[in-house]
Amino acid sequence: MKSDNAFVSIQNVTKKYNDLYALHNVSLDIKEGEVFGYIGPNGAGKTTTMKILVGLISDFQGKVRIGDYKMPAQKDEIHKLLGYLPQNVAFQEWRTIKDSLKIFGKLSGLDDQEIEKRIPDVLDLLDLTEVCNKKISKLSGGMTQKVGLAQALLHDPKLLILDEPLNGLDPLSRQKFKEIVKKLSKKGTTILFSSHILSDVQDVADVIGILNHGKLVQFGSLNQLKQGLSIPKTIEVLLSTPSDKWQELGKIKGTHTIEQTAPDKIILTLQSETDPDEAINSVGKAIVDLGINIRGISLLSPSIDEIYLNYIQRGQAQ
Ligand SMILES: Nc1ncnc2c1ncn2[C@@H]1O[C@H](COP(=O)(O)OP(=O)(O)OP(=O)(O)O)[C@@H](O)[C@H]1O
Ligand SMILES: [Mg+2]
Repeated sequence: MKSDNAFVSIQNVTKKYNDLYALHNVSLDIKEGEVFGYIGPNGAGKTTTMKILVGLISDFQGKVRIGDYKMPAQKDEIHKLLGYLPQNVAFQEWRTIKDSLKIFGKLSGLDDQEIEKRIPDVLDLLDLTEVCNKKISKLSGGMTQKVGLAQALLHDPKLLILDEPLNGLDPLSRQKFKEIVKKLSKKGTTILFSSHILSDVQDVADVIGILNHGKLVQFGSLNQLKQGLSIPKTIEVLLSTPSDKWQELGKIKGTHTIEQTAPDKIILTLQSETDPDEAINSVGKAIVDLGINIRGISLLSPSIDEIYLNYIQRGQAQ
């Protein structure tokens, strides 16, 4: 979890609200250019973490460093580096999109020339050019969210902290947003974002953190998260012609259960110590020996939803 070249370093951070631990001894490192997906149930502490990173909460215990700067001591330096989309983005409703962005540009320290240059770029990036003279009060929820993203991107920050950036976006806009995130990360922008849409996290995050009741229960790549799971490994066999002989596959060494879940689908769960590659080989051989006609055989990978639920429920059972 620790590395020397982290761009964002959170060390043993604890934040209490009276008796409630919003964050409990959370440590995580994010490298430059990495996309970090932060997931966890409502009230887990994701927004609290982000507010600490952007300097909106200063009374916490532990250490926070961004680049060469410490938070909260060097808040002003850090503000120049980062763009932030709050969870409940609020604008002055009477202003137009363009005017709102101009104000945010000034607040981020851009000069007038840079503001005039950057605004058309971010409007275009987020498909807001046509509506740029609309008043904020006249925008749909998703459009307001996009204006929030536009202001976070305006000064081309090295670090983006986005609290539920996909909230309210339609599928096409979500797709575009994910492309933007990938592009920015390729050019070295570090991105932290929270989301309840786990498939989106899976699509763009290099590293994922699962937070529950203020504690970081898992941190790592999707593959690392899969490895720590207690979900049984399963093999799926798709039959091309119906056959009753499939039940014989349950006798193969290392299988735990076998079940027909659809007329053409057989699911084998493996014993925990079984090597899945060996099991696939044995199943393949048995299929040939038994003369079963199949369309495919594959090791099923747990979905990110299963991974998430497994870690969260494990925490609740403790
Ligand atoms: N200003 C506050 N005063 C007291 N408690 C707070 C305050 N802000 C947050 N909390 C509590 O801290 C905990 C963490 O809240 P936080 O907003 O960080 O969760 P979250 O993971 O962002 O949740 P969500 O997915 O719903 O956005 C919650 O129990 C919340 O009620
Ligand atoms: Mg939140």
